[in-house]
Amino acid sequence: MSQSTPPKSRLYQLRVCDGPSCGVTHESEALVEIAQARIDADPALQGRVGVCSYTCFGRCEDGPNLFVHELSTDDERYEDPDDDVLEEQRGFYPSLDAQKIGRILDEHCKTGEPITDLVDDY
Ligand code: FES
Repeated sequence: MSQSTPPKSRLYQLRVCDGPSCGVTHESEALVEIAQARIDADPALQGRVGVCSYTCFGRCEDGPNLFVHELSTDDERYEDPDDDVLEEQRGFYPSLDAQKIGRILDEHCKTGEPITDLVDDY
């Protein structure tokens, strides 16, 4: 999906780290459920934004962690991305909580712009 695609048409997959550290220490499964509930309740996100678990971004001490992965095609939802794909995008959000998930969905996933006070280098 190119940068010329209108922000409200872009496809995203929120990849929430579930382990080993993020899942055990930070109960990231609950964060996946929070994100899914917000997506299900918002017509502007439904069908365009998905959420799934991911295994370790290598930033365990900063967890729970999430990556907003912008997809080129809907098929990419079902594959783990290569590290170089994630390194090309600015979508890594550490120290996740329910409030940050809300902002990520309302801001990054609707405007297409990373949230400067929350996003970090991957
Ligand atoms: S377990 Fe989440 S970043 Fe390593």
